[in-house]
Formats: sequence, structure tokens, C-alpha cells
Amino acid sequence: MTSRLSLFSLTAEVNSRGRLSVGGCDTVELATEYGTPLYLFDEATIRRRCREFRAEFGRRYADTSAVYAGKAFLNRALATVIKEEGLGLDVVSAGEMAIAESAGFPMDTVYFHGSNKSADELKLALKQHIGRIVIDNYDELGMLADVADECGRIPDVMLRLTPGVDPHTHEHITTGKVDTKFGFPLFNAAEAVARAMQAPSLNLVGFHFHLGSLIYEPQPYQEAIEVVLEFAADMAAKYGLELEELDIGGGFPVQYVEATPAPPVAAFAEAIVSTLTGKCRQLKMAPPSLTIEPGRAIVAQAGVALYSVGVIKEIPGIRRYVSVDGGMADNIRPVLYGARYEAVLANKMKEKEAGRVTIAGRYCESGDILMSDIDLPPVVAGDIIAVADCGAYCLSMASNYNASLRPAVVMVNEGKARLIRRRETFADLTRCDLV
Ligand SMILES: Cc1ncc(COP(=O)(O)O)c(C=O)c1O
Repeated sequence: MTSRLSLFSLTAEVNSRGRLSVGGCDTVELATEYGTPLYLFDEATIRRRCREFRAEFGRRYADTSAVYAGKAFLNRALATVIKEEGLGLDVVSAGEMAIAESAGFPMDTVYFHGSNKSADELKLALKQHIGRIVIDNYDELGMLADVADECGRIPDVMLRLTPGVDPHTHEHITTGKVDTKFGFPLFNAAEAVARAMQAPSLNLVGFHFHLGSLIYEPQPYQEAIEVVLEFAADMAAKYGLELEELDIGGGFPVQYVEATPAPPVAAFAEAIVSTLTGKCRQLKMAPPSLTIEPGRAIVAQAGVALYSVGVIKEIPGIRRYVSVDGGMADNIRPVLYGARYEAVLANKMKEKEAGRVTIAGRYCESGDILMSDIDLPPVVAGDIIAVADCGAYCLSMASNYNASLRPAVVMVNEGKARLIRRRETFADLTRCDLV
């Protein structure tokens, strides 16, 4: 099981008691103290990833800003770490804006995305002097121009373009192809540029694209940069647009399982920056500032989910189901897009694998399977299963399905653990009910 250790957070190790330790804390002790399911975030891993993105892009292209995509996971403690590391924040709702504001996040470094923003959300963004509003479609363009006019504000805006590039990832996390609900298809975007430039209440600063998530090679980014810069050159010739900023979205990969390693951030930085500078030279265009929006790649590896083993059901000759006390309500990814994970027995790190099991969630859906056919040491009720890479798109998509309680979240660092979100209670389940 120790070969799987490298998938866990950067501080993961086997301690002298033969248990999984993260951030210098014994995960089995944490499971006892805080209960399971429990989500751990390793602060050192989050900080290291933030620094890696800033350093690898920054050393190649000084005018780079990194913006963390809060949809991967956001709460006040995490927002504070992101702020301290000097990243901006990508939000997609008034709710995410509210969390950012409550954590004292500098709102002028916040980017507001979304394909169906409401007038109220746009007003709120203007009131909070948000850094950028990324306009997704013609309806929003008109609505924002009016709302900004009413509020007497001139926000910096970008247009989200769909460059028609296939990022070779799961269909549900592909957004850069032409047939998608997000953004202006390039063939239909010139009119948006003209309207944004003509609107006295908008300041068009640049273009954005986001190709999808879990993109394991730089090539789709390179293709998209070329296409979008060519479009920008056309717009410069036609309307005099000066492209100040190019935002290439997120999508940077994470190694979830041993079989699919993710290239390092440096490989993406190198390819992206050389394409950007080369293409600008070719088009004789002043190089714009570059914005990147990693979400998953900042927090996925930092997160560890801990579950307790309950019922074990053997179907002779067919399968051994090991049921845990969480599942699709705290991590919908395996059900939603067949996401794969690796796990270990946190209390038996030094024991040899003894057989193949399927780890089943506790919810009333037969599809609620966290992992199929994984080799583990002998499993018994009460063992603690630790799942690697659970920091992104697990808790942020969590639900109360089957009236379950959303798990507690603990930040670990240098041997200290602090609760950054308490477990929900039964009172939380009825808090909004009216009799
Ligand atoms: C506009 C935008 N930026 C950034 C991201 C973050 O993507 P990832 O978490 O794959 O880096 C997303 C994810 O959906 C997005 O829609």
C-alpha cells in the first residue's frame, strides 16, 4: 500500500504505529476524535501548489495572475490560505462571493463567472467592486451594460469564448467545444466584442476560455491560445481592440490513480507561455497579461477522506462489498462521471494486500460505489479507509441525500489539527423547514 502513498498529500507518511499520517497528524486518531466520514485538508500541500503555479508561470511570464477556482472547494479557512498565498479567486455565484467577502478576500482580485448570472448577482458584484466580470452570453452582455449603467459603475469585463478545441477529457467536464452551454462560439463572437466596446458602462479588457477539467496534456491549451489570439488580432483590425488580458481558465490535471500520472505544472507553463509569446510575435501583438484559474490542481491532492468500515458482504465467487459510512452524498464524482480513486487502510499501512474488494457507499442507490476492485489488506468492521485526492469537487458537490449529515472538515499542518467546518447536526437538517 505504500506505493499509493505518493497519491496522498505531500506530507503523507506511515508513522511509527503503522498508520497513515497527514500533516504530521495520525489519521486514525483524527477519525476517533472528529468521527467519520471526515475530510482532511493538508495546509502545506495547498500552499505548495499555490506557490508552484505562481512560480512556474511567473518565472516564464512575469505578467501572470493565478486565480483559484473556488468551485473545487471553498470555505472561509481555505479562502484565507488562498488569500495569504497571493492568488485571486474565481467565483460563480453570489454564495461564493459571500464566502469570499466573509473571509476578507480582496474583492478586486475576484473573477465572476457563470452562464446564467442574475441581475441581482451582477448588482452585488458591482457593489463589491469585483475585479472582473466574465460575460458568458449576449443576454448577460445586455443585462450587465444596463445594470452597470444604473449603478453608475464601469466594471472591467472579459468575454468568455469557446474556441472549439477538444480537451480530450470526460464529456461532462468539457466546456471549450462549440456545442456547449458556456461562452460565445468564436464564429458568433465579433458582435459581442463590438457591443462590449461600444457600451459606455463596460470596460472590455480581454478574453477568457476554459476548455474543461482534467486536461492531461498542454496541447489543447496551445491550440486554444492560437485560435483566440488570431481572433483578437481580427478584432484589433476591425474594431481597434487592444487585448490587455488573456485568461486561459483551469483544467490542470491531478494524478488520482497510479495508472494516470499528471505532467508537472512546469510542463504546462513552458508550453503555454512559449505558445503565447510566439503567437503574439507572429501576429505583431503586444503580449497581454496572462491569467490562469486552477481549482482541482490546488486542492485535490491536499484532501483526504476518512471513512469507517461497517458491513462486509461476500457474494461467493463474485464480489466482496465493503460498506463505508459515506459515499455519494459527500463524493458524487464516481457516480457522476466514473471518477476513479485509490485508497488505503489508514490503520494497517504496513500490512500486505490480501484480496480485492469493492468499496460501497451507504446511500440507497446501487450505483453508490466509491471504488471497484481495489486490493487491500484484510478488511474488518471498524477499519479506517483513507481515500486520496478528495480535496476537489467532493465537498463542494456534497448533498444531504438520505438526510445524511455533511462531514466535518479538518485542516492539518505540522502536527496540529483544526476544525474548519463542523459536522452538520440533525438540527441542521430541519433548520429551514416551516411547519
Ligand atoms: C471558468 C472556470 N475556471 C476554472 C475552473 C477550474 O477547473 P479545474 O478545477 O479543473 O482547474 C472551472 C471549472 O469548472 C471553470 O469553469
